[in-house]
Amino acid sequence: MRIAVIGSGYVGLVAGTCFAELGHNVVLVDNDEEKIASLERGIVPIHEKFLPELLNRHHNGRLSYTSDLEKAARESEVIFVAVGTPASECGDPDLSYVESVAREVAKALEDHHFKVIVEKSTVPVCTSDWVRKSMLLNGAPAESFAVASNPEFLREGSAVTDFLYPDRIVIGADDERTAQILRNIYLPLIDGSYYRRPDAIPGPDMPPGGAPVILTSTKSAELIKHASNAFLAMKISFINAVATICETVGADVTQVRQGIGSDSRIGNRFLNPGIGYGGSCFPKDLLAFRAVARECGYDFRLLDEVIRINDEQRQRFLRKVRNVLWTLKRKRLAVLGLAFKGGTDDIRESPAIKIIQDLLREGCEIVAYDPAAMERAKAELRAEKVSYAQSPYEAAKGADALLIMTEWDQFASLDLERLQGDLKYPIILDGRNLYDPEAMAAKGFIYVSVGRAEARPKTHYAGAATANGGRSGR
Ligand code: UGA
Repeated sequence: MRIAVIGSGYVGLVAGTCFAELGHNVVLVDNDEEKIASLERGIVPIHEKFLPELLNRHHNGRLSYTSDLEKAARESEVIFVAVGTPASECGDPDLSYVESVAREVAKALEDHHFKVIVEKSTVPVCTSDWVRKSMLLNGAPAESFAVASNPEFLREGSAVTDFLYPDRIVIGADDERTAQILRNIYLPLIDGSYYRRPDAIPGPDMPPGGAPVILTSTKSAELIKHASNAFLAMKISFINAVATICETVGADVTQVRQGIGSDSRIGNRFLNPGIGYGGSCFPKDLLAFRAVARECGYDFRLLDEVIRINDEQRQRFLRKVRNVLWTLKRKRLAVLGLAFKGGTDDIRESPAIKIIQDLLREGCEIVAYDPAAMERAKAELRAEKVSYAQSPYEAAKGADALLIMTEWDQFASLDLERLQGDLKYPIILDGRNLYDPEAMAAKGFIYVSVGRAEARPKTHYAGAATANGGRSGR
C-alpha cells in the first residue's frame, strides 16, 4: 500500500519505518526541512533500538522523505497523521497542527480516489469529527475519504518492538471498507507472517495466530488511547502511594507489589514505585484527558489525584536527600540518569531533571552521568553547578552521595567496591529500587530507596534514621 505519514517525530518516524518493514511504500512527511534533509543523509534523530537498522534497511527503497505534504497525500492511499498535539497552558491539547494537516490533505483529494486519513497522534475523543468537518469545509468531496483512528501504544526505548509485537492493534473505523484497509496494512502482524520472516526484528513470543485486532468505532479508539495512558499512570501513582505507607509502617513495597501484582486481574507491570512518571506522554495525556472529561461535563477528579501523587513523589525523594545529608548547600551529588526513564535520551518532563533543578536551588553541586541523555540535558541544565562525567564512577569521585534516577541496566550492576572507593561517603539514594537494601548495608552503604526501610551498615551510627523512628523520607 502507498502510505504517507505526516509528522516524523517519535511516533511518525517509528510507525512509518515499521510500515515499510511490513512491505508498504511509505513517504515520511515533515515541515522541518532540515529534519528531512538529515533523514535523507541517513542520520537517525532519536535513540531507539532497531530504528537505525530499519531506516538503513528501507532507505532508498520503500521509505522516502519529503516536506511536500500535498504531493505526498495525493500519491498515497492512506494518510497517517502523527503531528504533535502539545498541551496548552490549561492542559487542553493544541490541535492546530492536526487542523492544518486536515486542510492541506483536503486539497489533495479527488472524488475518484478514496483515501483514509488516520489519526495516529494522541487526540481527544471526537477529533475525528472535527477533522472530517474541516476537510469538508476545505473542499474535500464527502465520498472521497474516511477518517479513522489507530492509536499507538509504543514506549520510548522499545518502540520498534512494541510496534511490531503489539499486545493489540486497535482499529477505530466507522465503516467496513475503512476497517478493511487498515487491517490490510497490519496484515503481516495479524496473520503472523512477519514473525516467520528470517530477517524479522526479534521480539517476544507472539500468539500463533499473530497480533490480536480490536475493531472499534473511531470515537472508542480515540478514548482507548487516553484511557490506557491514564490507567497506566494511575497504576504508577497507586504503587507510589502504597510505597509511602510502606515507608511509614516499615513494610517492603517490593513484597507488597509482588503480592498484589500476582493477582492476574491486577498484573505486576507498571507497578514499579520510583520518583514518579515523566516523559512526553503521561503528564500531557493526563492533563488532556482531564480537560476532555471536563468538556464532556464530567469532573474526573481521580486524575487530579494521580497527578498530585506523582508531583509529591519527587518532593518525597528530595526530603530523603535532605534527611540523609542534613544540609544541602555546597554538597556535591553524583546523579545517575537524566532522561525520564532508562533506555532513552528523552528528557521531556524528566523527574530526574526536575529533582536536579530543585537540588541546584538548594545550593548543591551536581555531577551527572547518563548513557544517552547528556547532550540533551546540557541544553536544558545550563547551570554553572552542573558538570558531566564519562562514567558512573567518574561522577561518584569525591561526591557526598550518589543518586540513582533511572533504571538503565548498567546502573543496576555497578561495581559497588569501586563506588565505595570513589564516593566521599558511602551514601546511595536509589529512586528506582535497583538494589537490595540488606545487601547494600552489608556492603557498607547507607542505602535509601522507595517504599523500603532505609538500610545502614550494622556498625554505623543510626543518625538520621533514629531521628524519625528508623524510617526514611517522611
Ligand atoms: C507511554 C506508554 O507506556 C505507551 O504505551 C504509550 O504509547 C506512550 O506513553 C505514548 O502515549 O506515546 P513512554 O512515555 O515511552 O510510554 O514511557 P513508559 O515506559 O510508559 O514510562 C513512563 C514513565 O513512567 C517513565 O517516567 C517511567 O519511569 C515511569 N514508570 C513506568 C514508573 O515510574 N513505574 C513503572 O512501573 C512504569
